[in-house]
Amino acid sequence: MAALFQSTSMPDRDWWSVLWPDPDALLWQVGIRPGMSVLDLCCGDGYFTGPLAALVDGRIAALDLDPDMIELAKAEVQRRDASVRQWICADATCVAECLDEAVDYVLIANTFHGVPDPIGLAHSVREVLRPDGLFCIVNWHPYPREETMVLGKPRGPRTEMRMSPESVRRVVEAAGFCLLRIVDLPPYHYAAIFQLA
Ligand SMILES: C[S@@+](CC[C@H](N)C(=O)[O-])C[C@H]1O[C@@H](n2cnc3c(N)ncnc32)[C@H](O)[C@@H]1O
Repeated sequence: MAALFQSTSMPDRDWWSVLWPDPDALLWQVGIRPGMSVLDLCCGDGYFTGPLAALVDGRIAALDLDPDMIELAKAEVQRRDASVRQWICADATCVAECLDEAVDYVLIANTFHGVPDPIGLAHSVREVLRPDGLFCIVNWHPYPREETMVLGKPRGPRTEMRMSPESVRRVVEAAGFCLLRIVDLPPYHYAAIFQLA
């Protein structure tokens, strides 16, 4: 039975947009370029899906388990006057069974910390990537939660759930990837970008 990963509900837009004031810049920083095909895994309300769809001119699939998130993400994409090739309302671990075509780039942002079987999920991502594809995980740094303040309140997953870049590297490499680079995303995040080994 599919269930939401722990501590992965969509944050309220007020503080999310303060923490991520320029989602377009983030996509550029992690190496997403026009012409690529992309999967936005666990897309949420479309905060990154809209800019992504515009950047890759609709060569994007977006997946979330929560149908309400899919509806919000659709509205966000429409607001950007962009399009998405495939919307998928399903558990992320089933992505290989749902996606129509392999992609150049898989992005999972602000969700990996809650995945109970991260090696299993990385294996599923492998199945949907083209041979020269990239897998990017945007995660909270393992700073104490009380130090990751936005709009006057501590934000993000519980401290003990946060993964260091090194622990992400260990689990994703166990699924047949190798780390390409780490991109720091101040104030509280990093992106770990992998290619197939
Ligand atoms: C914290 S939000 C992040 C959304 C977006 N990636 C962002 O950074 O703005 C995590 C999203 O993952 C979705 N999610 C949680 N568990 C999931 C699962 N098992 N399969 C697919 N989506 C899931 C939630 O519904 C939520 O929309």
